Amino acid sequence: MANIRLVTEIPGPRSRALLERKERVVPRALSVHVPVVIDRAEGALITDVDGNTFIDLAGGVGCLNVGHSNPEVVRAIQEAAARFTHTDFSVVPYESYIQLAEELSRRAPGSFPKKVAFFNSGAEAVENAVKIARKYTGRKAIIAMEGAFHGRTNLTMALTSKVRPYKEGFGPFAPEIYRVPFPYVYRWPGRPSPAEVARQAAEALERAFLTVVSPQETAAVILEPIQGEGGFVVPPAEYLPMVQAICRRYGVLLIVDEIQTGYGRTGRFFASEHFGIEPDLITVGKSIAAGMPLSGVIGRAEIMDSPEDSTIGGTYPGNPVACAAALAVLREMDRLGLVERARVIGDRIRQRFEAMAARSPLVGEVRGLGAMMAMELVRDRETREPATEETAELLRRCIRRGVIALRAGIYGNVVRILAPLVITDDQLDEALTVMEEELLALS
Ligand SMILES: Cc1ncc(COP(=O)(O)O)c(C=O)c1O
Repeated sequence: MANIRLVTEIPGPRSRALLERKERVVPRALSVHVPVVIDRAEGALITDVDGNTFIDLAGGVGCLNVGHSNPEVVRAIQEAAARFTHTDFSVVPYESYIQLAEELSRRAPGSFPKKVAFFNSGAEAVENAVKIARKYTGRKAIIAMEGAFHGRTNLTMALTSKVRPYKEGFGPFAPEIYRVPFPYVYRWPGRPSPAEVARQAAEALERAFLTVVSPQETAAVILEPIQGEGGFVVPPAEYLPMVQAICRRYGVLLIVDEIQTGYGRTGRFFASEHFGIEPDLITVGKSIAAGMPLSGVIGRAEIMDSPEDSTIGGTYPGNPVACAAALAVLREMDRLGLVERARVIGDRIRQRFEAMAARSPLVGEVRGLGAMMAMELVRDRETREPATEETAELLRRCIRRGVIALRAGIYGNVVRILAPLVITDDQLDEALTVMEEELLALS
């Protein structure tokens, strides 16, 4: 214990001064969740400019599975940057891009030949997966899920399904996007069993092909295997195989967005593996390069080869320094056994969250897979009225006590954990003890 070290009030004077400068020159939309300015970070600890040290359960929104300033990743970045920082891979190629594509082809589910293209951000990967799916099928429509989050660019904002803050005031939206419900068991009308929710959600997809859009005009269904921003919504085990079967029946591609769920977060390298599905296209991002801007689309070779020369790409995608970081991330994940570690961390968080649920009526549901754990807070366990304000207050109090965590969910009432997978048991316990004390104080 005693990883947290607070030496000033939060925020401290240096952070306050810097944030005042920020207010003057950075737009309001870039508000900050934690009102302190970072000086340095290591593993799962962040130290601010006033010398306060926090335990980080947010990991840069799930980008730091190998931990902050992982020494091997830092070394790889330094070495790569000293050799060259940019060529544009399609002008002068380099080995790290090729090697990373080989590694990810090997690790992704599906025994078929695969190819991989790299981009800069998660949204850019999703945009390109959609482009590739449309080109391969010659069809335009895309079916996305209620509660989905795929990014903030024009197309991905249209795919995203949370009106505030992501969509309101930003239309018109990209056309040919259709929406079906995702099996959110806790909030499904009538509260049937998980298997029945899966059946009804799969039926809604089939029905959409009768009432909304022709399957012959549908290029792809896109979904997150576990919804991230939507509130760590884990579908019943049957659902994803059902969706895959429906897609295959109609020649519709299945795009699985693993940007938040991938890289070991759920206790498998890809969350798709839990459900036994083999997506046609997978998007990756976030933890791929420990926060260096990199993302990718992994897919069946013949699908990935359908766009012609120069139709996908850009100036920066697959930057050599980011690719070198990504290769170091994979080496570190293997060396440290982080996929297995995610399961251990997940069990520990689940136990602690369930103990909190036993003591606090605010906890409506504890859910998640591997280290992708969350609790949904409600004002009333029977009506399940979302405890949105209470969730925000809980996280504010945690920050003041030295613990950084995020919320999620369409109602903003889900506390989610995206801690670096290198977090020690001691650090995790200390952070969750703070969270428990603050939760009980609020209950
Ligand atoms: C599932 C999913 N897809 C796409 C994105 C967008 O990624 P980026 O913010 O890197 O554009 C995110 C980001 O949170 C995500 O969680």
